[in-house]
Amino acid sequence: MRKNIVAGNWKMNTTVPEGVQLAKDVCAAVAAEIGDANVGLAAQNCADHTSGAYTGEVSAPMVASTGANYVILGHSERRGYYNESYEMLKTKVDLALENGLKVIFCCGESLEERENGSFKEVIGAEIRDSLFHLTAEQMANIVIAYEPIWAIGTGKTATSDQAQEIHAFIRGLLADQYGAQVADDMTILYGGSCKPSNAPELFAKPDIDGGLIGGASLKAGDFMGIVTAF
Ligand code: 13P
Repeated sequence: MRKNIVAGNWKMNTTVPEGVQLAKDVCAAVAAEIGDANVGLAAQNCADHTSGAYTGEVSAPMVASTGANYVILGHSERRGYYNESYEMLKTKVDLALENGLKVIFCCGESLEERENGSFKEVIGAEIRDSLFHLTAEQMANIVIAYEPIWAIGTGKTATSDQAQEIHAFIRGLLADQYGAQVADDMTILYGGSCKPSNAPELFAKPDIDGGLIGGASLKAGDFMGIVTAF
């Protein structure tokens, strides 16, 4: 049985006191709705090395030592601004799993790729080249997030039909590679201008198992409006 997840990606926002307050507000609201055992902590990245002379990097063991349960990898902002390649992400995925972290693995196409029709090819390559070396057992610790780049922070959400089409496509790739069980058990999140007003329609789709939320996760009330959309 796959899990429904609503994850907040705060990106490079909040100071420590602001972040602590936001976390407290979210935890209190979530606990009131669904119980505090259902809240997890994620890092937004980890290094592609375990330790050593890599100034400024944060390793998977360091992330795990904070008590975090998850790490987001392959966000389009990391791929785009920091040149993270499929190969580098493959290494990061391995290190995260070796250190007991679950991975929220992001994929998604640019506006140009959407318009020129290459989007499924792009998404397929992102998933295949960084994840398909894993075993079926390892895939149980992966969550996939589909985030069309043109919908991130733009206020322009993919329609629920567009998102459903890609989520079903991703599940199909998983079924071809790993069989129906792994495909069926995979949690696939949608991200990109998701908010309380559009979450119910998105989450009602059969292959959309939750969201990866940017802007709307910075306000506890908006975030909870999405959590309770199920
Ligand atoms: P927005 O919700 O701000 O569009 O960001 C989505 C995102 O990038 C989450 O990782």
